[in-house]
Amino acid sequence: MTDITAIVEKRQGQRGELLAILQDIQAKYSYLPEEALRVVAQKTGRSLVDVYGVATFYHAFSLKPRGKHLVTCCMGTACHVRGAPKVAEELERQLKVPAGETTTDREFTLETQNCLGGCALGPIVVVDGHYFSSVGTPAVRGILEKAREGLDKVDLASDERAFPVEVACGRCNHSLMNAHDLIDGQPSIWVTASFGDRHGWLRLSSVYGSFEVESQHEVPVDTIVDFFCPHCSAELSGAGPCVACGASMVPMIVRGGGVVQICSRRGCHNHMLDLEGTSAFGEWR
Ligand code: FES
Repeated sequence: MTDITAIVEKRQGQRGELLAILQDIQAKYSYLPEEALRVVAQKTGRSLVDVYGVATFYHAFSLKPRGKHLVTCCMGTACHVRGAPKVAEELERQLKVPAGETTTDREFTLETQNCLGGCALGPIVVVDGHYFSSVGTPAVRGILEKAREGLDKVDLASDERAFPVEVACGRCNHSLMNAHDLIDGQPSIWVTASFGDRHGWLRLSSVYGSFEVESQHEVPVDTIVDFFCPHCSAELSGAGPCVACGASMVPMIVRGGGVVQICSRRGCHNHMLDLEGTSAFGEWR
């Protein structure tokens, strides 16, 4: 396991090193092999119990190999009362595996989770980081077909999952919208971004469902980027880890109410929109 040793050595001494090490291993193998966790414990001087504690705490990590597509059905209270158990049953019926398992062709892993952050829009099903809202059992077949076709091929003009949002910094409330530089025909979202020794501007598409990005410095795939408000310089942070890859989610407040979160890892397309719970962020400026 020389590659695991290399990952540990690369991350040692960094802030949150254990989480970063496990994220890298998960990204490389799509799960956390037992032998890798033993190497991590030995190299970092932590007990195996500690390492397993972190590995099992975050839903983003898996101790078993996952399939090509990860399907997560929310079973939180808000989704539950809107019919999530029936949606989960339908997913199990069509994939022919119980929740927690992977199909024999290794195409799909089906999981359940308690709250995926989109309570107002439940039942929520997330496939490969793409959110499907108000899911009923008749929609399940189409969702799985879309996953097989490739969910990154979103037609922005016709796909109802793609719509523009206007966002602001959660610290200073200033708008992050940039009306001069359009992406996908809409004002872009303007932030500053940092990775390694690089620091510069980064513009994101404001179309929820699009993953178009322009940046001063090219960001290599799999790089975790720190995002900052260009007005107050505060880091856009405070959200939990990404359910798909374990990197931090980046929160921005949505005009009209809500929070949008995007994954900080380049190449991970996980994003979520929660239209509830905005009172903590004050007024739009
Ligand atoms: S309960 Fe399902 S998203 Fe919160």
